[in-house]
Amino acid sequence: MRLERVAAHVPDGARLADIGSDHAYLPVALMRRGGIATAVAGEVAMTPFNAAQRTVRDNDLEQQVSVRLANGLAAIEPADGITAISICGMGGETIRDILEAGKARLSGQERLILQPNGGEQPLRQWLMDNGYRIVGEELLRENRFDYEIIVAEQDGPVTYSAEQLYFGPLQMQARNPAFLAKWQSILQRKQQTLASFARARHSVPEDKVQQVARQARWITELLA
Ligand SMILES: C[S@@+](CC[C@H](N)C(=O)[O-])C[C@H]1O[C@@H](n2cnc3c(N)ncnc32)[C@H](O)[C@@H]1O
Repeated sequence: MRLERVAAHVPDGARLADIGSDHAYLPVALMRRGGIATAVAGEVAMTPFNAAQRTVRDNDLEQQVSVRLANGLAAIEPADGITAISICGMGGETIRDILEAGKARLSGQERLILQPNGGEQPLRQWLMDNGYRIVGEELLRENRFDYEIIVAEQDGPVTYSAEQLYFGPLQMQARNPAFLAKWQSILQRKQQTLASFARARHSVPEDKVQQVARQARWITELLA
C-alpha cells in the first residue's frame, strides 16, 4: 500500500531511479504494468542488492531494470536520462544527505518522490534551499505507522514558513482528517515531554525546552 501510493506519483513513461531499492519491488511493479520506460535500482548494501537482482531476474526484466551497487545518486549517470527519482523508507535526514551528496548528478528536470520515515522537516528545508517546490504531499497510515510522501520539482526559488516546513505546506492547506489526527497525537506527546522537562528543569538545555514549546504552540494553533 505504501509503495503503491509512491508509485502513483511516478509519471507515466518515466525513466525512474529508485535509490535504496532493497528488493526492487517499486521499479519492478511499475515496469510490469508498463508504467515506466526504464529503471535503475540503486543499492548500497550487498544483501538488498542481491535481492534486487533476484527480483529483476525472476521477472525477466534485466533489459529494462538496471540494478547497481552504489551509494545514493552515484547509481545514476547522465546517459540514463533519469526523469524521476524515488527514495523511500529511510529517515528524512538520510534522504536529505543522499540528495545533498549527489547534487551534482541532479539535472533539475527530475521529479523527486520521497517517502521519509520521520525527519520530514529537515528534508523540506533542503528542498526549499535547493529551489524545489513541493507539488504533492500525502499522509498514509499502515500497520499503525504514519507515512508521508513528498513530491517535489525544481522550478525556481520558493519560500516556505517555519510552520510549513514543519507540517508540510500542502497538508497544512488540505487539513484532512488523518493529518489532524496525527498532529493531535503528536501534541499529546509534546505536552508529556514538556511536563517531564518541567520535572527535570535543571538537566534539560533551555533551547531544547523552547524548541518543544514552540512546536506545541504551532500544533495548538494548527488544530484550533
Ligand atoms: C528500509 S529499506 C527501504 C526499501 C524500499 N525503498 C522501500 O521503501 O520499501 C532502505 C534501503 O535503503 C538502502 N540505503 C540506505 N542508504 C543508502 C544509500 N546511501 N544509497 C543506496 N541505498 C541506501 C538500504 O541498504 C536499504 O536496503
